[in-house]
Amino acid sequence: MGSSFFEKASSVATVAGFGFYMAAFGLLGVLPWLMTDKIAPVQSGRQFEQRFLPAQVPLDFRGHYKDLAAYRDGLYLGKKVYIAEGCWHCHTQYVRPVGNEAARYGPVSENWEYQNEMNLPQLFGTRRVGPDLIREYNKHSTDWHIAHFRNPTDVVPESVMPSYDWFFNSDGSLNDRGWAIVAYVQWLGSWRELPANKKEQG
Ligand code: HEC
Repeated sequence: MGSSFFEKASSVATVAGFGFYMAAFGLLGVLPWLMTDKIAPVQSGRQFEQRFLPAQVPLDFRGHYKDLAAYRDGLYLGKKVYIAEGCWHCHTQYVRPVGNEAARYGPVSENWEYQNEMNLPQLFGTRRVGPDLIREYNKHSTDWHIAHFRNPTDVVPESVMPSYDWFFNSDGSLNDRGWAIVAYVQWLGSWRELPANKKEQG
């Protein structure tokens, strides 16, 4: 007699397994590879400046940064401090199109916002112990941020965010790293307000 039930079942499983393997290879391997030409080039230099930096140093930061170049260096340092301090353990930088996130944090994130030298590597994060920060620009005053980094519970009594007193000099003023992180959080999302980017938004 011909093949047993088990022999039939195992050949069906082998063929199905191979089929699924090929499907996964196609969908997750080949398809993304075919679409790599659709990834926008990373914006840098002058193009980046026009789309992502204000034309002048924001008022609150003029006392510390004497010109746009110094302010820009501050933003880069701020991003490094953000990574080094592990802020991304507790904060995301990506507003998802689900769960009314837009109502809580602001406009849903779009791909063009991340494809530039300041937002790469993306700091999407995976945990939200604290709020998403990609729309932090203008949510609080600069003074609020300074007080908050010094001692979060002074301004948000129930906060579990640690205090960052090493951002401050012994006289209580911000040091370079402190100015940099405040400038960085006050910059996050500001690019959506710049004229060059208004056309991108639906
Ligand atoms: C242990 C988790 C934790 C870490 C680490 C942490 N935060 Fe927070 N953060 C929070 C929580 C919780 C809140 C909400 C309560 C509050 O405002 O303090 C918050 C609030 C904030 C806010 C105000 C957000 C808003 O819109 O009200 C900012 C800005 C912020 N964090 C920046 C930072 C930065 C920058 C770092 C790294 C230097 C950092 N946080 C590290 C937990 C954390």
